[in-house]
Amino acid sequence: MPEPVAAAPGVAGHTVLIAGATSPAGVAVAAALAGAGARVLAVGSNPEHLRRVLQVAPDASVYVCDLADFAQVTALAAAVHAEHGPIDGLVHLVGGWRGGGGLDGQTDEDWAFLHKRVIGTLRNTTRAFNADLLASLNGRLAIVSSVSVDAPTPGGANYASAKAAAETWTRAVGHGFAKAGDTAAAVIFAVRALDGLEPRLAAEVVALWDSPAPELNRTRRILTP
Ligand SMILES: NC(=O)c1ccc[n+]([C@@H]2O[C@H](COP(=O)([O-])OP(=O)(O)OC[C@H]3O[C@@H](n4cnc5c(N)ncnc54)[C@H](OP(=O)(O)O)[C@@H]3O)[C@@H](O)[C@H]2O)c1
Repeated sequence: MPEPVAAAPGVAGHTVLIAGATSPAGVAVAAALAGAGARVLAVGSNPEHLRRVLQVAPDASVYVCDLADFAQVTALAAAVHAEHGPIDGLVHLVGGWRGGGGLDGQTDEDWAFLHKRVIGTLRNTTRAFNADLLASLNGRLAIVSSVSVDAPTPGGANYASAKAAAETWTRAVGHGFAKAGDTAAAVIFAVRALDGLEPRLAAEVVALWDSPAPELNRTRRILTP
């Protein structure tokens, strides 16, 4: 079991779980965290895709889990605790886009997909690991939202609404962090598109451990190219 990490700046020595780690953004975040000395736990639903993480972070531990299924996430948390102890950071990257076609195009099928991926996996992972983040001396939660929340369109109504829900959920988690003693922070990054921004996002995630939690908690940071 790892020793507790002192409340000093820097991500080195902290255990960080990336939920949805196999996209270009996830791989960039995993590489940056590992390069900065963090213990990286990478989670995806596809075992083949997780190889991408091991190519850039060979010491990472990888877990296959359907993060939309709370029973599987509970089992994941038990496995993580048994193998690594509690985590210090949760970086939630499970996304996906559905939309277009104006308001008539906002189908129930697309809403179900977005609800499951964008908000369902966030609810599941934060509930399963909230106690860890509260107990850590430097707990951090990060999500990546969209600037479309600020200027939603009919064709993106399903997507922007799901992202708005994810932001609200994250601020609620952050409220719990603040009430519990301000050692943890929940941060929302917002982007228009991630393509090309992956290194910037990765650096911002690593830097979450360079500032005190009260400065970060419940902030929303727009990342632009
Ligand atoms: N891409 C953009 O331009 C953009 C724009 C605005 C906001 N964002 C947000 O930024 C974040 C990262 O974006 P992204 O495009 O990198 O995300 P993504 O590709 O949609 O999802 C990231 C990873 O999540 C994993 N995943 C999907 N469903 C899962 C499940 N049920 N259980 C476990 N893992 C699952 C996938 O890996 P596996 O195949 O291995 O399961 C995927 O590689 C998301 O929150 C997204 O909404 C992205």
